[in-house]
Amino acid sequence: MKNTILVTAPRGLSTFLKSEIEEAGYPVHWAGPSGVETEGDFNDAMRMNLLFRTAHHVLYRVGKFKCDSPDELYTQVNRIPWETMIPVDEYLSVVSNAVHPSIRDTRFVNMKSKDAIVDRIMARKGRRPDSGPDRTGAVISVFWREGICSVYLDTSGEPLSKRGYRRIPLHAPMQETLAAGVILASGWNGNGNFINPMCGSGTLAIEAALIGLNRAPGILRDNYGFFHTLLFNNENWKVLKQNAFSEQKKQINGKILATDISIEAIEAAKKNAKVAGVESHIEFAVSDFAETSLPSGGGVVMINPEYGFRLGDQKDLEETYRGIGNFFKNRCQGYKGYVFTGNTALAGKIGLKSKRKFLFQSGKLDCRLYEYELYAGSKF
Ligand SMILES: C[S@@+](CC[C@H](N)C(=O)[O-])C[C@H]1O[C@@H](n2cnc3c(N)ncnc32)[C@H](O)[C@@H]1O
Repeated sequence: MKNTILVTAPRGLSTFLKSEIEEAGYPVHWAGPSGVETEGDFNDAMRMNLLFRTAHHVLYRVGKFKCDSPDELYTQVNRIPWETMIPVDEYLSVVSNAVHPSIRDTRFVNMKSKDAIVDRIMARKGRRPDSGPDRTGAVISVFWREGICSVYLDTSGEPLSKRGYRRIPLHAPMQETLAAGVILASGWNGNGNFINPMCGSGTLAIEAALIGLNRAPGILRDNYGFFHTLLFNNENWKVLKQNAFSEQKKQINGKILATDISIEAIEAAKKNAKVAGVESHIEFAVSDFAETSLPSGGGVVMINPEYGFRLGDQKDLEETYRGIGNFFKNRCQGYKGYVFTGNTALAGKIGLKSKRKFLFQSGKLDCRLYEYELYAGSKF
């Protein structure tokens, strides 16, 4: 049976999420700044968790109704056949996003919905599942706006940005999904070199390797919300993973090079790449970004410098950003250069005219990906 599926992503990623959904063969019914609505059965929802690089939550809709009071919310949520979806011995949590005059605190919506769910299961099965705030078991997501309430099984549970490979995050790491989106924005798909100076914990290089190998990002995770529902079919899940596995490439048509001035960062990046199973596809080196030597053949050079808010010093960083401009001009001809930063003033210090800009969000911070065309022989 096909249900509505809402796939969420932070601002800036949903354009790429929409393309991922279409490429995987699903229709797009609606696309907004923080999510894309499609449809499918539960197997499709599991497949989306496995395949999508930019998605945060895959929400499988199990109810939609008019709702104008907390009591109505309880009644309607209680009508959903939860005993067919949530095992009695499962741990469940409810999250919500609600705007209604009767609601001052969404925790009240969570509690009202949770009561409706566990009361229903108690009435049908004689026992209540445990509940609490952790997203490690079954997760139910309630979205209540303009008198309409949608109730979803959050088949992801913890956000899909937590791929499971980043054991050593270091300072200011990029979210894995954001790193994937930024690479997709550059158009790099495994053809050509991918050079990542200032690699930090290695997120961009690791995501590039996963993209280049066409490896499903979800293959690394050992927990999903859907594991904790009665709709989960382990045989189907194994088939989905097997299919994804058979789509993988053995090699990438270009080099992935990750460098950083910090030995600690390179050690962490190597360990993370090992957990992700891609360490043999990335070359690591301790090096000042300005000394990174690029292989011939062109490709993408992507740099995520510090922004000067949490780390580093503004004045020093001005020098660093100017240095990135010089590095692009002098050493990266024939490549496309990218800088991902949350500091527009510092981006101005690069001193090159960007060809395109993409807006992303990292937590609450607006960030931009600047693209520079670095033609061989150009005078800038
Ligand atoms: C914002 S962090 C990068 C985070 C990374 N994208 C991640 O996901 O972990 C910036 C990195 O630049 C490195 N760095 C700072 N100055 C550098 C320089 N001159 N040359 C090379 N790396 C440098 C720092 O050691 C730090 O790891």
